[in-house]
Amino acid sequence: MAPLKVTKICCIGAGYVGGPTCAVIALKCPHIQVTIVDLNKARIDAWNSPDFALPIYEPGLVEVVRQARGRNLFFSTDVDKGIEEADLIFVSVNTPTKKSGVGAGFAADLNYVELATRRIATVATSSKIVVEKSTVPCRTAESMRTILEANSRPNCRFDILSNPEFLAEGTAIADLFSPDRVLIGSLQTQEGIDACESLKQVYANWVPPHSHCRPLVFRAVQLAANAMLAQRISSVNALSALCEATGANIDEVAHAIGYDSRIGPKFLKASVGFGGSCFQKDILNLVYLSESCHLPEVAAYWRQVVEMNEYQKRRFSKRVVDTLFNTITGKRIAVLGFAFKADTGDTRESAAITLIRDFQSEKALVNIYDPQVSHEQIWTDLQEASPLAPLNTIKKQVTICKSAIEACKDAEAVVIATEWKEFKDIDWEAVYASMNKPAFVFDGRLLIDADKLRKIGFTVTTIGRPSSTLV
Ligand code: UDX
Ligand code: ADP
Repeated sequence: MAPLKVTKICCIGAGYVGGPTCAVIALKCPHIQVTIVDLNKARIDAWNSPDFALPIYEPGLVEVVRQARGRNLFFSTDVDKGIEEADLIFVSVNTPTKKSGVGAGFAADLNYVELATRRIATVATSSKIVVEKSTVPCRTAESMRTILEANSRPNCRFDILSNPEFLAEGTAIADLFSPDRVLIGSLQTQEGIDACESLKQVYANWVPPHSHCRPLVFRAVQLAANAMLAQRISSVNALSALCEATGANIDEVAHAIGYDSRIGPKFLKASVGFGGSCFQKDILNLVYLSESCHLPEVAAYWRQVVEMNEYQKRRFSKRVVDTLFNTITGKRIAVLGFAFKADTGDTRESAAITLIRDFQSEKALVNIYDPQVSHEQIWTDLQEASPLAPLNTIKKQVTICKSAIEACKDAEAVVIATEWKEFKDIDWEAVYASMNKPAFVFDGRLLIDADKLRKIGFTVTTIGRPSSTLV
């Protein structure tokens, strides 16, 4: 039998991965009907909103949705109908790190994947290709196959593929338009190879044919790729501490290191610490996997990458306190940026959350401004970071502002936590005039022109450079 020609796709999960990925598939494949389903009604309503106030911010996404929505791209809470109609289903639900039970704090919580898989088995009345797209450990596809096979109706066959997503938030649309690689894993049976071919044909509508069929264990590639990238940041952040102590400049050091083509210039930007939904989760997964394989040294090695990240955040908040004459009690601190990086509204594992929690425990008053993150999300994150403090108490200490200028007014210090371009271009003279003196700036993202700000009168502290204003 020839590989199935896909005409209807359903994506379970309208989040940061499923939403942009399947919106781009709909745009590039006008002959395929794409329905993205999610149990979260508010999220689906936002995807369907008449003014395109989408639930996630991603440069270029609105334009994609504008072109495809209503044509061959649909968003719905009717998960069952989506499953029933589709011949290919992407499973793109959340896989957070487990909070309790075996592997708590390390292993991925596969409950959502399992529930979605069971739903497919219950609802499907015809054969489907099921594509696992969430960031999940290797062998998840095998568990999905077992569940589907054990619960399927007669005459329904399920072919399971693994198709990990390598998009980075903030550049998701560009990454999807021209991916470095498309990896598709399948069983090496004729049916598996055919299913793989069907998915390849979907991507072939815009991606040159360099997709690969690989055995299912290759999921490890994605974990490993993220762990190696995160390791570079932790390495450069470890060097940033050394630079601060010895008088060197981390940006120059990183620049020089990056000249070595074997290392390369990317992912060497020292920062207040990496965040995002993948890096920490994937490394902790790797730690868990290593421990399960009785390799404690390997586990300790990878754990240190995360520990270095925690250290970097702690070190930065301590530097703020030390510089502000060893106390920030009652002092107002403006935190610019709350997202885990620029060009996204995503806050998962954002360094800003840890910094603000540290400032709160030092009894500072904190003003926050971020151009994309909703106020509701900020309150949710701060509440989660300090579960023992009632939200009212948090609100007495923290104010969310509508602009960077408003956040900086009457503050003693400005802390740049996310590298939003607009922070580079704010009217720093006006900010200086509105702040208490001496006015401090802490650049956690190597973003601003420190010399220019010093000329205005600020005392500037930058990651990876010694504190003295003379350097
Ligand atoms: C990452 C991977 O890059 C992507 O391939 C995978 O599919 C998902 O996880 P993402 O989490 O969106 O993507 O963001 P990324 O650009 O990798 O940045 C992660 C964190 O590292 C951010 O907090 C970012 O600010 C920080 N970072 C990145 C640095 O601190 N320095 C750098 O040089 C690069
Ligand atoms: P990611 O970054 O991996 O895309 P998100 O948390 O942004 O993760 O999105 C995952 C989405 O999956 C959420 O909107 C959640 O409501 C949805 N979801 C989880 N389980 C199910 C399910 N069984 N059926 C439908 N949607 C689900």
